[in-house]
Amino acid sequence: MSEVERVSTGVEGLDQLVDGGLPKMDQIIIAGGPGSGKTLLSMEILYQAAKRGIPSSFIALDLEPKVVLKNFKNAFPAFSDIDDLIAKNLLIVDGEDAATRIQASSDSESYSFGNIVSDIESIVQSNNSKLVAIDSISLLKLLISDKLLYRKSMIALTTNMRRLGVTSVLTAEMVSSERKDLKFSQEFFIFDGIIAMYQMEQEDRRSLGVEVVKLRGSNHSWSLVPYEITPEGFKVYSLQ
Ligand SMILES: Nc1ncnc2c1ncn2[C@@H]1O[C@H](COP(=O)(O)OP(=O)(O)O)[C@@H](O)[C@H]1O
Ligand SMILES: [Mg+2]
Repeated sequence: MSEVERVSTGVEGLDQLVDGGLPKMDQIIIAGGPGSGKTLLSMEILYQAAKRGIPSSFIALDLEPKVVLKNFKNAFPAFSDIDDLIAKNLLIVDGEDAATRIQASSDSESYSFGNIVSDIESIVQSNNSKLVAIDSISLLKLLISDKLLYRKSMIALTTNMRRLGVTSVLTAEMVSSERKDLKFSQEFFIFDGIIAMYQMEQEDRRSLGVEVVKLRGSNHSWSLVPYEITPEGFKVYSLQ
């Protein structure tokens, strides 16, 4: 294992892929197609952290926070104590203000990225979060059509997260499942790490696979390994 301080994902098998855990204060993208489990996985990472006493916050930009929570509880009956963690303020599931702002903006000119960043900041500060999920950054990409502005905005976001001293996971909708497309996407250069989730069609059933495409400063796994979404949470079948 390398010298970098890490925070465990708490997810079965996932730490083995990332050299023991997510590098502290880094920003990691979880990329995948629709239905691959990005929202559930990012929430499970926070849930597991909050259970260990690490204050966390989930910023729901795509779906309403209460819908995210309902889906999480439906998928993972074993994690029904999530409400206790929320009651104790160890876990915050919020983001409506940011979502409302996004929906209210009809074009990129009126769209105020700075406000979204400050919303995220006040959520993070309200329980002194050490771990933050933003689900997803794809909506931001849609709103900021200018490539340079998008890049600048993402850099502003990562700079802020770093200044706040948080480790973050940001989900991103993957339009292509080609590895080479991922490697040339802007996100590949801006963020510290990328975990990709794939749904592979196999005759009559789908199979799920996850790999680490990039993780700065880490001796991460290079394998594409299967994973499952079970009532007890994600199971990643790492080699070794
Ligand atoms: N109640 C459930 N029971 C089992 N699997 C579920 C349940 N709810 C969702 N899932 C699985 O989770 C996937 C959706 O996860 P989600 O995190 O919302 O995906 P994404 O954010 O990548 O679009 C579904 O495709 C399904 O496989
Ligand atoms: Mg989602």
